Amino acid sequence: MALPMHNNMPHHVAIVMDGNGRWAAKRFLPRIAGHKQGVAALRRCVKACLDRGIGVLTVFAFSSENWSRPPDEVSGLMELLARAVVSEVPELQDAGVQLHFVGDRLRLSGNMQDALAAAESSTVSNSGLVLNVCFNYGGRWDIAQAAQKVAHSGQAMTEHALDRALALAHVPDPDLLIRTGGELRISNFLLWQAAYAELHFTDKLWPEFDELSLDEAIAVFQQRERRFGQTPDQIIAAQTRGLTLPSDESIKAA
Ligand code: IPE
Ligand code: IPE
Ligand code: MG
Repeated sequence: MALPMHNNMPHHVAIVMDGNGRWAAKRFLPRIAGHKQGVAALRRCVKACLDRGIGVLTVFAFSSENWSRPPDEVSGLMELLARAVVSEVPELQDAGVQLHFVGDRLRLSGNMQDALAAAESSTVSNSGLVLNVCFNYGGRWDIAQAAQKVAHSGQAMTEHALDRALALAHVPDPDLLIRTGGELRISNFLLWQAAYAELHFTDKLWPEFDELSLDEAIAVFQQRERRFGQTPDQIIAAQTRGLTLPSDESIKAA
């Protein structure tokens, strides 16, 4: 789902939080120390998004492919998630954050599935920032599970029906997609939803990402002209008529 932009701030920011392992290696620390520092960076980023009035933050915490890491790193990441769910929820609750875990939960332990569901339901009526934590998530998994849902429902397999069946159907598409850690790839993140996201890649490693790094990404975003398939002249004409910027949704509807 896409939403017309009401101002020049991104409404939905998505982040591939990459570079934890290299942050740790630079300090001769085990990789898990980098992941712990990554949780602290996420806490800081949530606060920065709240301060800036950003509506939705979606972060990539564990990909479908990350199961292929060494078993001790995988179990360390599972433990970190389990602990973070317990330790972070009260503060998220106070800040009015609505928490969602996005991804295939069936491969997670029963205890973990229960903890994620409990954390979600305790924040469901919050109306502040929507925080989507993508865990055991892959863009291909998401499209496949959406297609299965649509097929089972008997609806026609249209773009709209698929869009509504995706795991992020509760939020508009991301406006700005940031990847830290210097790699120039998507790594199976929001393959469908990032169709018209502005991309921003930074060499900064995720544990070092701070408020200034977020402001820098927002400033770059604000310099971009989002055209959604239209010509620059059409954009200028719409702006002088005082219309909001187009969105892919409004153009689809035209
Ligand atoms: C991202 O950091 C966190 C996860 C993928 C879980 P990495 O662990 O990929 O860090 P680098 O890329 O090895 O530095
Ligand atoms: C992407 O980072 C996944 C997350 C940040 C959770 P990776 O480190 O797994 O990506 P690749 O392997 O470099 O593509
Ligand atoms: Mg990485």
